[in-house]
Amino acid sequence: MREILPALGVQADLIVADPPYNETPITWDRWPTGWPTLAAQHTRSMWCFGSMRMFLDRRDQFTDWKLSQDVVWHKNAGAGMSTDRFRRVHEYALHWYQGAWRDIHHEALRHVPPGGVKGRTKPGDAVRRNGEHGPHIGKRKRHTWTDDGSRMVTTVIGASCMRGRAIHPTEKPVPLLDPLIRYACPPGGLVLDPFAGSGSTLDAARQSGRRAIGIEANEEYCERAALRLSELVLI
Ligand SMILES: C[S@@+](CC[C@H](N)C(=O)[O-])C[C@H]1O[C@@H](n2cnc3c(N)ncnc32)[C@H](O)[C@@H]1O
Repeated sequence: MREILPALGVQADLIVADPPYNETPITWDRWPTGWPTLAAQHTRSMWCFGSMRMFLDRRDQFTDWKLSQDVVWHKNAGAGMSTDRFRRVHEYALHWYQGAWRDIHHEALRHVPPGGVKGRTKPGDAVRRNGEHGPHIGKRKRHTWTDDGSRMVTTVIGASCMRGRAIHPTEKPVPLLDPLIRYACPPGGLVLDPFAGSGSTLDAARQSGRRAIGIEANEEYCERAALRLSELVLI
């Protein structure tokens, strides 16, 4: 990515990065020094996957970026064999941006929760909300609306790991990537994944009507991603 990204000379609406965390003996799991600074030259909005340890160890490399929020991916199965700690069933996706928050595409998503609607109001009720503003949360005036039964998508996203169906050992599932992309990239916009692996981000982007570019160092994963993307999907 450090060679190809500058050569492409593109500005993306969103980068979705799932970098090597530098936490395993896998040969490709080596942090490319300085990549967040390079990414900052090609977009102003970025989701980055990682562990808390990864972000804390590399915090000096994110100085070009402001943090807007963190999302947790809750997976069905744990990773790792450690028996001296809690079983790890989550990873983080942090959203970073540059410039003014009002200039960054961010469209809060709503859905009808699978377990039914919970909360202080029920569908049909008139709801009043006080205004709020502050750094990284934008500005919202006091307003009233009718509860339509939908709720905001929450910061914990449950999505099953790809085990058995995976092209790549750390492949992210499309149902996890889809809300991140729809939140931060406008329809028809360009998503760039500098560590594309199986092409999961590119697949999620096209399924949600966004354009996508992927960069991947490993030739075999590139070929498998290209094959995946050559298959038709019903949109
Ligand atoms: C965590 S995996 C990404 C998995 C991907 N998100 C998926 O869902 O399939 C990181 C990928 O980055 C690739 N990689 C490592 N260093 C790279 C570099 N400098 N440039 C481009 N790709 C690199 C690795 O080969 C690996 O496939």
